[in-house]
Amino acid sequence: MAEKALMRVLSGERLDPPPVWIMRQAGRYLPEYLELRARAKDFMDFCYSPDLAVEAVLQPLRRFDLDAAILFSDILVVPDALGRKVWFVAGEGPRLEPLLDAPLPAFADPEQALRHLAPVYETVARLRQTLAPHLTLIGFAGGPWTVATYLIQGEGGDKDRCRRFAYQRPADLAILLEVLVEASAQHLAAQVRAGADCVQIFESWSEGLPEPLFETAILNPTKALVARLRALGVEAPIIGFPRGAGALFGRYARETGVTAVGVDTQTPAAFARREAPQGMPLQGNLDPQAVIAGGETLVREVRRVKDSFAGSPHIFNLGHGITPQATPDQVATLVAALKGA
Ligand code: CP3
Repeated sequence: MAEKALMRVLSGERLDPPPVWIMRQAGRYLPEYLELRARAKDFMDFCYSPDLAVEAVLQPLRRFDLDAAILFSDILVVPDALGRKVWFVAGEGPRLEPLLDAPLPAFADPEQALRHLAPVYETVARLRQTLAPHLTLIGFAGGPWTVATYLIQGEGGDKDRCRRFAYQRPADLAILLEVLVEASAQHLAAQVRAGADCVQIFESWSEGLPEPLFETAILNPTKALVARLRALGVEAPIIGFPRGAGALFGRYARETGVTAVGVDTQTPAAFARREAPQGMPLQGNLDPQAVIAGGETLVREVRRVKDSFAGSPHIFNLGHGITPQATPDQVATLVAALKGA
């Protein structure tokens, strides 16, 4: 473990250059990914096919000198396993049967859900056997609120309907979050048992919540999730990524119990450093759009971001997922700018 750069940073070391991985590093900006994806029946089937999922994880690692592999899966496998079927509409995104005008359904119990997710753990176990020893294997789950937003409104987009649901049906929201905390804890623990070195919680929809709602929908459930993971015997470091938390970033970093915190594109590194506990590792936060600019602009931005985090244990990443418009050459430029010079 000691030779894995990313794990060293997660234990509080500062490395220069910092280790790097890219959110959505296996994805549509890679021609070989598009080809692989065409072989699966649909996106969820892709996530549940260990042969395809392992290959997707390895693709970016063959091209770039990255420091971590992230499991190929999706945050929506958890609701799918709980019995709320997920499907993808081409060109639009994920769909579920919304809960807005329905009473809360019965959810599958976590044990049954875990059985549904066995192919995901098989993918992790195979990766553990395959990956070069210097690579950190990252498992993940969605944050309880972020996953709840998809369950509630049945699709992405603005979260007005979810906040309304939170005010109008607080007891139902509490049940929903409790179910997701338990299922996500079990799901993450299973990934660590299968061989993940650390895990990331993607709380991608942390924006727009007044402080009391941020407490009930994000802080308390995340605290419960972290505590449950520890109670299940999981010692692996936990990276929390509260995208859009803004002024409440510090409360997330200080109060949830995560080991490290992901910084989104708009949050200044200096603000994150001041707000997070002393020495907490920070991850981020190159603008995905700067990747697409490429060339000198990209090189300059990579150096600026690296320098901005120089006072912290730092894991270089984007401030959100890489987009399909990026090119493999631009990612090569990014890694070279970080590690080459
Ligand atoms: O980072 C990685 O490479 C690991 C794999 C990963 C995927 N999704 C694969 C994926 C991870 C960590 C996720 C997380 C995820 N999924 C989040 C949180 C992170 C974020 O981006 O905010 C969310 C909100 C989802 C839900 C989801 N899955 C959406 C909204 C979409 C559609 C997005 C789009 O751009 O069309 C997906 C699909 C998805 N998940 C793709 C990938 C590679 C694209 C699917 C495709 O091949 O068409």
